[in-house]
Amino acid sequence: MAGQGPKQPSTQYHHHVAALAFPFGTHAGPLLSLVLRLAAAAPDTIFSFITTSKANSSLFSPTSKASAFLNVKTYDVPDGLPEGLVPSGHPEQAIGFFLKAAPANFRSAMKEAEADSGLKIGCLVTDAFFWFAGDIAEEMKLPWVPLWTAGPRSLLVHAATDLIRQRVLGTDEKTLEFLPGFSKLEVADLPEGVVSGNLESPISSLLHKMGQQLPKAAAVAINSLEEAEPDVVNELKSRFRKFLNVGPFNLTSPSPPLLKDDSGCLEWLDKHKPASVVYISFGSVVRPPPHELAAFAEALIESAFPFIWSFRGNPDDILPKGCDKSSLNGKLVSWAPQVQILEHAAVGVFVTHCGWNSTLESIVGGVPMIGRPFFGDQILNMRTVETVWGIGVGIEGGVLTKHGAIKALELILRGKAGNEMREKIKVLKNLAQSAVEGDGSSSKAFNCLVDIATNHEEV
Ligand SMILES: *[C@@H]1O[C@H](CO)[C@@H](O)[C@H](O)[C@H]1NC(C)=O
Ligand SMILES: *[C@@H]1O[C@H](CO)[C@@H](O)[C@H](O)[C@H]1NC(C)=O
Ligand SMILES: *[C@@H]1O[C@H](CO)[C@@H](O)[C@H](O)[C@H]1NC(C)=O
Repeated sequence: MAGQGPKQPSTQYHHHVAALAFPFGTHAGPLLSLVLRLAAAAPDTIFSFITTSKANSSLFSPTSKASAFLNVKTYDVPDGLPEGLVPSGHPEQAIGFFLKAAPANFRSAMKEAEADSGLKIGCLVTDAFFWFAGDIAEEMKLPWVPLWTAGPRSLLVHAATDLIRQRVLGTDEKTLEFLPGFSKLEVADLPEGVVSGNLESPISSLLHKMGQQLPKAAAVAINSLEEAEPDVVNELKSRFRKFLNVGPFNLTSPSPPLLKDDSGCLEWLDKHKPASVVYISFGSVVRPPPHELAAFAEALIESAFPFIWSFRGNPDDILPKGCDKSSLNGKLVSWAPQVQILEHAAVGVFVTHCGWNSTLESIVGGVPMIGRPFFGDQILNMRTVETVWGIGVGIEGGVLTKHGAIKALELILRGKAGNEMREKIKVLKNLAQSAVEGDGSSSKAFNCLVDIATNHEEV
């Protein structure tokens, strides 16, 4: 077709990488950002990005950065839902059906991609959740590179699940001292499904199998930096053939300049003193219970600290009855430019669910955290922030109360402790910035990944 020349794969491509993305939650985005970085670094390589059409269409909108890459092609796999099924609304159901059909579906999409490009796939980059990709890669004699989108500490927990269960189940062991880097953490901090809760739920068994398969991978990649958790990283390096810390992605693939700040958050922040404003966001997945949000709103009103709250829903549901919104010393907004807010000098504390991204963004922004974790790796992240790095605190009692919130806000915004946290976070922030520089650890790890993807490395 005229004008479409460069879109056609041609002899300009010498290598072919397939990327298999987990289409649920916010998993596919980080895999895509890694693939785009690889695609920019290896222009002679074609990347086939395979996921469901739903996930694809949200990532590859015509105006997205991704759709501008000539060497990234998309392929769909079915979502695996039986025809006529009435969804239960429970996300684990959809995940279960997807995973059951995934190995066969991915195999056939990969055949299609090989036929289209005329190039055999030479490397398989996948979400780490796809433990079965280890078998596919073995069969096809390919290097497998799983990407873990959370932090190294949760990764070690899943890699060491057999050991943890052996040491903890049926005993009264409460510490995790037998795991390198875990001397300050406790059994109670572990994600559910490791030694507590349902050990056989679809997600628990997926993570368990993943942990068992990862040592097969040519390299395990992660959105983190080596220097953040050296003990944990060294242990993972000893367990995996290669452990490549290629993050923080937020620094390695900066997002395009901010297009909108409709609610004027940044301008509003400009009017505030350094380290004085509370920024609150619980991410896009978690919805804290209304009574906790109401308690936190009361804490903000009573303490009168200025705030920006990124809040989905109707603010009237959480504000005290009859509260005049114009009298608030802050802003409740339905969307906020989080990264830019965290990088603004006026922000003094981030109230967060401690998802891995938010934690990294807070570090990059130099802002101490108040953690209210909910599930998965969030408690581990919060405990790392609190006890390992000393750059924040968990909310007292684990749930948001007016008293606990005021205490934590005062500690960080008024106390000496807050300043000490800011000093410690600055050290981490500088480590993150050095890691992504030309000869930094994350850049070196990324170069190694490029070599694996383009088969320049014996695996
Ligand atoms: C985390 O950050 C990555 C890279 O910056 C992004 O692609 C992804 O969507 C983010 N995930 C969440 C949960 O916001
Ligand atoms: C992925 O989404 C983009 C944008 O909606 C679309 O142009 C493209 O055809 C889609 N690819 C597949 C394989 O569905
Ligand atoms: C960092 O990640 C967030 C998602 O949590 C994303 O919205 C943002 O654009 C990223 N920022 C940079 C600088 O890459």
